Amino acid sequence: MGDLFLRACRKEPVERVPVWLMRQAGRYLPEYRAVRERVDFLTLCGTPDLAAEVTLQPVERLGVDAAILFSDILVAAAPMGIAVAFDPGPRLTPAVRTARDVARLRVFDPEEELTHVYRTIRLVRGALSGRVPLIGFAAAPFTLAAYLVEGGGSSGFESLRGLLHADPALAHRLLEKVSEVTVRHLAAQARAGAQAVQLFDSWAGLLALPAYREFGLRYAARVLEELEATGVPRIYFALHAAHLLEAIGEGCPAEVVGVDWRMGLAEASARLGGRVVVQGNLDPAALLAPPDAFEPHVHEVLRQGAQAPGHVFNLGHGVLPSTPVEHVQSLVEAVHRAGVVPAAGSSSR
Ligand code: CP3
Repeated sequence: MGDLFLRACRKEPVERVPVWLMRQAGRYLPEYRAVRERVDFLTLCGTPDLAAEVTLQPVERLGVDAAILFSDILVAAAPMGIAVAFDPGPRLTPAVRTARDVARLRVFDPEEELTHVYRTIRLVRGALSGRVPLIGFAAAPFTLAAYLVEGGGSSGFESLRGLLHADPALAHRLLEKVSEVTVRHLAAQARAGAQAVQLFDSWAGLLALPAYREFGLRYAARVLEELEATGVPRIYFALHAAHLLEAIGEGCPAEVVGVDWRMGLAEASARLGGRVVVQGNLDPAALLAPPDAFEPHVHEVLRQGAQAPGHVFNLGHGVLPSTPVEHVQSLVEAVHRAGVVPAAGSSSR
């Protein structure tokens, strides 16, 4: 049972649909908030004992079928030479805008600079002792580049989108460097014991299809391609990406593709080409309502997921901080109850 999630990623038979949740370790959990009262977010990410403790919290509380490393997509920016702060949104200084800025970015050795992340992974694997698998992660190159060029969060990331038009060659040099760092960081996570990796492309949806192919997909695909040798399942999640699904299905070497809540999983699976396992996609806002109200939506996600070659239940994006923890517990129980997959050959499907 401990490898249910990994079997689902590999399209192997499963007795029920596995479930984990993006941002399952986070502010909706009272035990997470208790740790955060003592330390700030970046200290938490950088302290293996605490990061491991927080990684395990949702496994203990919810009984999810996978753990996800507690860290952040932006931790890779600091060793590149960019200061990262959260107040509370991310702030990266200096912003990367010119040829000189890009040339100065360090393509570093993560085994030396991000040792704490791999130590966290080893601690978590030891504590889990095979109960559920551990997922590692990083940002897709376009998404990390968006934060670097903008110097923080933004609703439209106009600085990077402007750069793509003003100096595409420079944008490519930036994406090359970010891709190299990302491959190294994820390969090191797999070596340390991460049993699957997820690439978060939270801002890919800002691009039209041609720009996405050139600046988004190309680099995400390169990163995932280079990780094939690790043997761990690769998950690619792009937000707001309904218009990109055909391209992702054709060009993205991932075993699993995450889908946000804006499109049903059956249609998403078809547009992806019907070959990959899909992950998702309950609207995180559904969990703000009581279980009676969201359970029909859970069943609908499961019904649609059953039409794909494989399904990992998740939300369409991260758990919202204001979500009542009891609702999240009910969700996991509902998936565990309802997501039973009939044995092969059974006529009930
Ligand atoms: O999912 C998990 O439980 C694992 C941990 C995780 C975090 N961030 C912890 C976190 C993961 C996988 C991420 C990924 C991440 N980080 C993404 C991709 C997913 C997405 O949301 O689209 C992005 C874009 C970031 C960057 C980031 N980190 C932002 C913009 C913020 C501030 C906004 C916010 O939600 O507060 C963060 C902070 C952050 N990362 C928190 C957590 C639990 C909240 C920090 C706190 O405790 O105050």
